[in-house]
Amino acid sequence: MNVLVVGSGIAGLTAALHAQESGHDVTLVTKGALGDGSTGYAQGGVAGVYGPDDSAQQHAADTMVAGAGLSDAAAVDALVADGAERIAELISRGVAFDRDPDGVLLLGREAAHSHARIVHAGGDATGAAISRALVAAVRRTAIGVIEHAFVTDLIVEGGAVGGIRLLIDEAVTALRADAVVVATGGAGHLFAHTTNPTGTTGDGIAAAMRAGAAVDDLEFVQFHPTILAAGPAFLISEAVRGEGATLIDDQGRRFAFDSHPDGELAPRDVVSRAIARQAAAQGSPARLDATMLGAETLAARFPTIDRVTRARGFDWSREPIPVTPAAHYLMGGIVTDLHGRSTIPGLFAVGEAARTGVHGANRLASNSLLEGAVFGARAAAALGEPWPDSPPLRSRYSTDPAPVSLEYRDGSDGVPFGRAALQQLMWDEVGLLRTDEGLQHALDTVRAWRSDASAPQTVAEHEDANLLLIAEATASAALARADSVGAHFRLAGRRATAPAQILETV
Ligand code: SIN
Repeated sequence: MNVLVVGSGIAGLTAALHAQESGHDVTLVTKGALGDGSTGYAQGGVAGVYGPDDSAQQHAADTMVAGAGLSDAAAVDALVADGAERIAELISRGVAFDRDPDGVLLLGREAAHSHARIVHAGGDATGAAISRALVAAVRRTAIGVIEHAFVTDLIVEGGAVGGIRLLIDEAVTALRADAVVVATGGAGHLFAHTTNPTGTTGDGIAAAMRAGAAVDDLEFVQFHPTILAAGPAFLISEAVRGEGATLIDDQGRRFAFDSHPDGELAPRDVVSRAIARQAAAQGSPARLDATMLGAETLAARFPTIDRVTRARGFDWSREPIPVTPAAHYLMGGIVTDLHGRSTIPGLFAVGEAARTGVHGANRLASNSLLEGAVFGARAAAALGEPWPDSPPLRSRYSTDPAPVSLEYRDGSDGVPFGRAALQQLMWDEVGLLRTDEGLQHALDTVRAWRSDASAPQTVAEHEDANLLLIAEATASAALARADSVGAHFRLAGRRATAPAQILETV
């Protein structure tokens, strides 16, 4: 069949390769150059190689605990069951994961993992190594590649997806297909501070929502705890804490154990909030102390981080470095079954754009590359299979009918829309710490901006429209979920009591 894959991170590249190898006619469409996107920035690695005292069952249990009980057990089982095969496939496609002198894979440890089970490449350049290998593999095939093409919308006819509309050099083009696989990543640029590369504006999720696909769990946004609090957002991998680095306050005291018995290796949401609270209490960023690892180990194990921190004036082998959380990963997205099938026949979603149910309320470290590979392959295997009569999963939120019904008020306070204003609003009110009043204010403001917006023409205008649509859905979902769970943390009280402002340290 004729298959369009949109997006060229690990999920899209894997789906495209598997689809082509199964005999489908595949075209891969991407917004930037092939391989641009979040995958290339991933530092930590891929979870899923088990030592003698570890197992897929324990990996699944850790995933469920990190997901705060909201992960879908069947999706988690599929993730860990297929993981070894996908990692072997990456190796066979040329990814040189780091090994010891005897050729045994080196395994890293990250937060909330009960064991060291994370393979990495180039020390902290795992995503770049994967991206290079998969892009090269795609280039060796007959897969058609269309770069610098922006997907404005999905074509839906007779209730099924029949293609996409594209903006290329300001001209709109339609591409027909029997199936469309959305692999466009998340929406980190909803927020003023994010680890995500430019262009992560939720385009595929928004297009699917406009087409009527169910989305879910958008309130679950992961904030990575340790971004260098100096200069543009730069991730300091959790693997650094996995190797023994500690979080300290301005007196040099380790504070993470005040929040969780696992201290620095507690789930990400717990560590992020502990860092934010510490920064609020002391009026300056908390610090990550990696000095005990020594200059040689830091340079060998984390060459990228070593280079960037030094370029920004820090010798992290001698001094603790300031860190602060930033938006990192969207657990929610387009609702899919275990084969990437959405609620619209012919439409698949994989990777961060999808809500497979693996991550629940909070993703376990280094499960994202694994999920992209596993579900990219599973979706490709389901191409051409009969579409299930009733989609197995339903969202409690979708754009049609209207989202959670809330009284409409113009909350924009006269502030005109601009992308930076939206990102600041989301950071302040729909960020790490959320209040009822703040969420309502965000929702009212976004709705007022949306109602004023004119039809988008340029790529930037389409991105803004996509961000606004997802912002409304995210604020709405966060407001509707009154309890705190995983990465969604509700504070009692009013907007002004949320210490989010103190996070303005980057
Ligand atoms: C990290 O290296 O800390 C990020 C890895 C991930 O997001 O899973």
